[in-house]
Amino acid sequence: MTTEVVILAAGQGTRMRSKLPKVLHQVAGKPMVAHVIESAKQIGADVIHVVIGHGADQVKANIQDADINWVVQEKQLGTGHAVAQALPTINDDSVVLVAYGDVPLVANQTLSSLVSAASDDTLSLLTVHLDIPAGYGRIVREAGSIKAIVEQKDANAAQLEITEVNTGILAVSAKKLKQWLPTLSANNAQGEYYLTDIIALAVADGMQVLAQHPETTMEVEGANNRQQVAALERFYQLQQAQRLMSEGATLADPQRIDIRGNLTIGQDIFIDINCVFVGDVSIADDVTIGPNCVIENSTIGQGSVIKANSVLENAIVGEACDIGPFARLRPGTVLSNKAKIGNFVETKKATIGEGSKVNHLSYIGDSNIGKGANIGAGTITCNYDGVNKSVTTIGDGAFIGSNTALVAPVSVGKNATIAAGSIITANVADEQLGVARGKQRNIDGWKRPSKK
Ligand code: UD1
Ligand code: CA
Repeated sequence: MTTEVVILAAGQGTRMRSKLPKVLHQVAGKPMVAHVIESAKQIGADVIHVVIGHGADQVKANIQDADINWVVQEKQLGTGHAVAQALPTINDDSVVLVAYGDVPLVANQTLSSLVSAASDDTLSLLTVHLDIPAGYGRIVREAGSIKAIVEQKDANAAQLEITEVNTGILAVSAKKLKQWLPTLSANNAQGEYYLTDIIALAVADGMQVLAQHPETTMEVEGANNRQQVAALERFYQLQQAQRLMSEGATLADPQRIDIRGNLTIGQDIFIDINCVFVGDVSIADDVTIGPNCVIENSTIGQGSVIKANSVLENAIVGEACDIGPFARLRPGTVLSNKAKIGNFVETKKATIGEGSKVNHLSYIGDSNIGKGANIGAGTITCNYDGVNKSVTTIGDGAFIGSNTALVAPVSVGKNATIAAGSIITANVADEQLGVARGKQRNIDGWKRPSKK
């Protein structure tokens, strides 16, 4: 049987108080509904339907995923009505998993186990036990077997005492759904077509309704307001922190790390507080990362040290490099092994050869620097004339004196030396000294101007 996932995402989300549809609010830098779509893919869904309504165009435009069958529910007449909108495109021989765009963190294991349990004679339902069940649909059992779900607003006093509640997530045969959904009525306290009414229909059909439970109740929490989004964010981040520690990272504080994307790590890594990892970041063994670093779509080689307050974006860092504090590596920065980028240095589209050092207060852009070069404090590559970008090339072993401006396109040869304070506009050959600065004059008895 194939698996089709129906993700409900048509609701308004008034309590978010936002122009943005609720399901586009982000957890870990990604819209909530995108988390659900990713989970559906990870459990091997053959088709993914997303039911949209409020802000439908915005949701579609933001998610831009060619694999999705978008289903528009013009009016939000209830969860049963929402699923029914997807029915015409659902294959009879599939199992349908119903999920929610505002419940983003259900574990893949939880979802796939529901799907595996569903068949033509079994409906599987995800339930949890809550101390305070208020607001949720209650699971009505007789002699231990599930008989129905009754919504809070329709429940009698005895049913309100039930602490086993419906998470809303379930898996069921498509054939059965197609039988039941057209027969739902909206004759209830909310005047809605309840998906939950299919439980009693399944029981009436002689099917078995099996409850499963998630590993933690946080998994099945949804977000109706920004406080709940924040709670999900913290839950997600703590899970990531736990994973990193079990993979071999020491975290100065597991509560103070944020991962917005995929962070893959080696062993014996140390990460200090308040670091943010964005997109695809990979960190090899024995790397140390100081506090307050932001690292986006970058690779860090074994044994490198990134000191406090450094920002890396689309950078490749070799082994045993030394970066920061306060370094900024912009896109296209490639550091060979043992390179050093010190404080207040900005690099962009720059390759820095093995063991080369740019230690203080520099801008290195559109540059290729060889091995063992030393770039003095305050060196600037002038890569932009206001219209075009040009390249600076610096050979192995070159020594660039402090406060040099290298006006690109320009090249400095191997083992060449540039005198401090030079403005280099012409190429300097291997082994040469380039000096380009005004000659110093010392004037005796100089009088400073006085006030008239
Ligand atoms: C639903 C369940 C309830 C369960 C609870 C868990 C029903 C009738 N009740 O109640 O048993 O305990 O979830 O949170 O299913 N949606 C649509 N279109 C609609 C209606 C809803 O897309 O016409 C979406 C909403 O955007 C939301 C989700 O479905 O994401 C749940 O709808 P909501 O109205 O919040 O259901 P609950 O009252 O919470
Ligand atoms: Ca709800």
